[in-house]
Amino acid sequence: MHIAESEIRRAAQTIKTGGIVAFPTETVYGLGADVFNARAVARIFDVKQRPAFDPLIVHVHAKSQLQQIAEEIPQSAAMLIERFWPGPLTIIVRKKKCVPDIVTAGLPNVGIRMPGNYNALALIKEAGVPIAAPSANKFGYVSPTCAEHVREQLEDSIDIVLDGGRCEVGVESTIVSFSHRKPLLLRSGGLPVEEIETVIGSLCYPESDTMANASPGRALRHYAPSTSIVIGQSLEPTSGLRKGLLAFNRKTLKNSDGYYAVEVLSENGDLNEAACNLFAALRRMDKLKLDVIETTSVPSYGLGLAINDRLKRAAQRRN
Ligand code: TXA
Ligand code: MG
Repeated sequence: MHIAESEIRRAAQTIKTGGIVAFPTETVYGLGADVFNARAVARIFDVKQRPAFDPLIVHVHAKSQLQQIAEEIPQSAAMLIERFWPGPLTIIVRKKKCVPDIVTAGLPNVGIRMPGNYNALALIKEAGVPIAAPSANKFGYVSPTCAEHVREQLEDSIDIVLDGGRCEVGVESTIVSFSHRKPLLLRSGGLPVEEIETVIGSLCYPESDTMANASPGRALRHYAPSTSIVIGQSLEPTSGLRKGLLAFNRKTLKNSDGYYAVEVLSENGDLNEAACNLFAALRRMDKLKLDVIETTSVPSYGLGLAINDRLKRAAQRRN
């Protein structure tokens, strides 16, 4: 869905003059500011209640904008850019000095991506500056995949919400860091790792989640609704609990008796469709005041890796 040019222009003007704007991308909605305006970026952290140690991804509309913010692009990163941009891939490379420290949480590296979404590209181009943008949700909560999700949480505290309809991918970008000897996968996401590996060979995978310093935002509990999530269907009687079931497909839905609500992510078990529906389904269930949401995990390939990662993090108990 193309947003009217006049609306894009107004939003770009808001970014240029230090405002913050929610906008669609192919993955999830972002909350953006001029990357070079530290005060505007600080407002994003404030509105999201995001800890200062969690860096933001910078969005560009053309490869020419890379030189403004990246010191150097290693060859393997350049190969991925060539093949997959615009698209759901973020690369982490050395930053230029002009990128304010608040954007990268003090790190010497910056995350960059070119979103595969007409409206996002039009906005960045019109703004004339790269746009720093995290997902447009309160920190730790499920990412927004339509404008309504953004409005529910943030409408009163941000300047504009651009409505470009539903995000077609539905999970955040895949993040690959080039700040180590070998390319390191920091987050599985909308671009399957198998596709990346066909271009640059095998990636390093963080050994464990305690390798959080490589990516400060890899908080264990994340993407979480307020309702408790459990991975797996319990076989016990429901004992009066108000339970929801988030099933991958019809087949994995062994038994829907005793559930107050059931969501099927993809009738026929299509991982792309399931990823696209995941966050909206979690948000719908979260409104039902359930005692618990049970989920079935999905196959561990393609977008299934990203789905399982989000479910695992959402299922982490609060400290
Ligand atoms: O698809 C996406 O990536 C969406 C859309 C809006 O582009 N954005 C998104 O941003 O998911 P956010 O802020 O919710 O998650 C970005 C994550 C951070 O939590 C952090 O872990 C990692 O990217 N990141 C960003 N810059 C980094 C850096 N310099 N070094 C390591 N990790 C970084
Ligand atoms: Mg986020």
